[in-house]
Amino acid sequence: MVSVIFPAAGQGKRMNAGINKVFLELADRPMLIRTLQKFSAVPEVGELIVVVGAEEVEPVTELLEKFSGLKPWKVTEGGSERQYSVWNGLKQVDSEADVVLVHDAARPLVTVKTIEAVIAAAREHGGAIAAVPEKNTIKVVSEQGVVKSTPARSTLWAVQTPQGFRKQILLEANIKAEADGFLGTDDASLVERLGRPVHVVMSEYSNIKVTTPEDLLIAEAFLRQEKG
Ligand code: CTP
Ligand code: MG
Repeated sequence: MVSVIFPAAGQGKRMNAGINKVFLELADRPMLIRTLQKFSAVPEVGELIVVVGAEEVEPVTELLEKFSGLKPWKVTEGGSERQYSVWNGLKQVDSEADVVLVHDAARPLVTVKTIEAVIAAAREHGGAIAAVPEKNTIKVVSEQGVVKSTPARSTLWAVQTPQGFRKQILLEANIKAEADGFLGTDDASLVERLGRPVHVVMSEYSNIKVTTPEDLLIAEAFLRQEKG
């Protein structure tokens, strides 16, 4: 059985909407609901763990109750950093789960195909992440604003979520990160520190993280395409 943790406890500062961006409506539904509906369409997914701010637990519970057709869900409290929110969610995972996915609530455009591919690769290899080949040239820049180096673009992938792991590996990775005081910008970076392989799964460029106001326009354009 697959459990999915949805970090949704951010403040959406870059969106500057005055509310947590995951509650913004995309077309007719809150972004968070769209994300949960995508995963509810995946047969292997057995539970949804939604991680929100302390004062959001009650209203989000009420919101989710209004939508039928969601897989069994729990709402739990997050932390001050995404990594701590995921760690809190991980503590709520069902004992029957063998694979755990982590997916940003702010990525409602993910496809069922990508979710299923990440589940399969996580089960096979222990760790797998959705990603797309980087389109831009990326440079390493010093604090003084001077270019240090240019990694070959063919080796660079822009990483997204879902990121999936065998449950024991993700647990071990979070315990080690906490013990070492390591704070990563994604979940796989914690697993990489264990020396374990993380496989890349080809995703879609449309699986954007809705971060700034212009991303809402882009997301709405992709949604129109989804509806065909
Ligand atoms: N997140 C979380 N707990 C935090 C910070 C972020 O669960 N302490 C979640 C967000 O709700 C989001 C995902 O992690 O679904 C990706 O983070 P990001 O896009 O940075 O969202 P915010 O932190 O809300 O946005 P910002 O950084 O602009 O404030
Ligand atoms: Mg953030």
